[in-house]
Amino acid sequence: MFKGNYWLALVIAATFISVASLTAVPVFAAGDPDFDPPLVPLPAHPPIPADNKSSTAIYPAKMGPKQELGYLLFFDPKLTGDASLSCGTCHHPDTGWGFNDPISRGYPGTVHWRNSQTIVNTGYFHKLFWAGSVTSLESQAPAANKGGVAGNGEDDMMESRLQMTPEYRQRWKEVFGYDRPLIKDAWRAIAAFERYMSQTDTPYDRFLKGDNKALTASQKRGLELFKGKANCVECHNGPMLTDEKYYNLDVPNPVEWTESGLAQISYRFEIYAKGVTEKLYRESKHDLGAYFRGKNPQDIGKFRTATLRYLSYSTPFMHNGAFFTLEEVVDFYNEGGGESDLLNTKTKILKPLNLTDDEKADLVEFLGSMSGEEIKLPFPKIPPIAAFDDWQPKK
Ligand code: HEC
Ligand code: HEC
Repeated sequence: MFKGNYWLALVIAATFISVASLTAVPVFAAGDPDFDPPLVPLPAHPPIPADNKSSTAIYPAKMGPKQELGYLLFFDPKLTGDASLSCGTCHHPDTGWGFNDPISRGYPGTVHWRNSQTIVNTGYFHKLFWAGSVTSLESQAPAANKGGVAGNGEDDMMESRLQMTPEYRQRWKEVFGYDRPLIKDAWRAIAAFERYMSQTDTPYDRFLKGDNKALTASQKRGLELFKGKANCVECHNGPMLTDEKYYNLDVPNPVEWTESGLAQISYRFEIYAKGVTEKLYRESKHDLGAYFRGKNPQDIGKFRTATLRYLSYSTPFMHNGAFFTLEEVVDFYNEGGGESDLLNTKTKILKPLNLTDDEKADLVEFLGSMSGEEIKLPFPKIPPIAAFDDWQPKK
């Protein structure tokens, strides 16, 4: 990713070239296939799509009207099947805007099949979900709230509930210029809210912008390891600390996945819907990740390189939540990733790193520098559905 932005990124990097530790940026290497995009700070706000204009404000600035509407909808259970959960249930403010079980809870009666990701900074991604299966927040939101193991909502029903809510009619008028809410605009408002949930003020970003005191001595040593001996930068690079490519690291499956009948049912429900061979449907014991998108055997078990931002709050880690602490993650990489390689697609990039205990501690410290203050927004007051007579349009 960031291909089109290499030059822009290099210009930005050049601007900060005075930062001693960044002078190693390979300024001439843009055409080189082995070139890693430089480590650069996050832009001031995520890109705003032309067909979903909204305020460029990000947390903690004041929200624009569309972002505020999205904030209400994000927490509003009217947008799920039985109106008992919302986006905010599985992307909870107290658990890093994700869910803190290895495998997320699902729609009532189900367990999800993957770990719930934080929504913080998702406006900067080019592809979403662990396997990158959707490309915009506008299309991600309905995929979540209509999907059988998440929101399980039905469009007409969810739309009626919005239309019967006087406050939404009023807000829709203000934001979209009409007052009988259509569900498609609910997803657009939610996307605008998610863009608001961006964090550009972290010690790491401040350091990249030239504040040499923003990182501790240990974090600076961690950064050098990240770029050097530990080679994390091979995949975790660019402003979001991800190349948005897919790799199989051979992350072990947690018991929450292997031993939960309901999670296994969700998994088979998902892979049936995505169309795989009957053999895979019956026998597969691992999440096949990016394979589901193009059915290319080379993609089996691969997942999008995760962002390293907001990690301090978003435990557990990896697509299946296999690790609860960053120490465990670093130990995993130190051993060269997983060892079973049952799927035969494990990346050749991971090798044992021979990090000392002090080096591992520095790396963990450095990973903490990519999180700023915890983003705390209260649950908003959800606009109530009105009595029948009150929601009829007054002629
Ligand atoms: C029942 C739990 C649940 C609900 C409800 C839910 N999500 Fe998620 N969300 C998840 C899980 C689990 C994943 C990871 C799924 C995957 O990768 O296949 C995810 C992934 C995401 C991502 C991708 C993040 C990334 O890094 O790519 C975004 C954005 C997101 N959800 C937003 C939403 C929004 C908006 C809603 C409401 C419209 C919502 N979610 C409702 C559980 C849930
Ligand atoms: C070969 C590419 C590659 C390299 C090298 C790499 N990573 Fe990763 N990283 C990934 C991928 C892919 C994932 C998601 C894997 C999954 O869920 O199965 C990931 C996930 C993570 C996560 C979990 C984030 C979350 O939100 O769940 C952390 C933390 C992490 N990597 C840190 C590191 C560190 C530290 C290093 C260097 C020691 C490193 N990575 C090296 C590709 C890589």
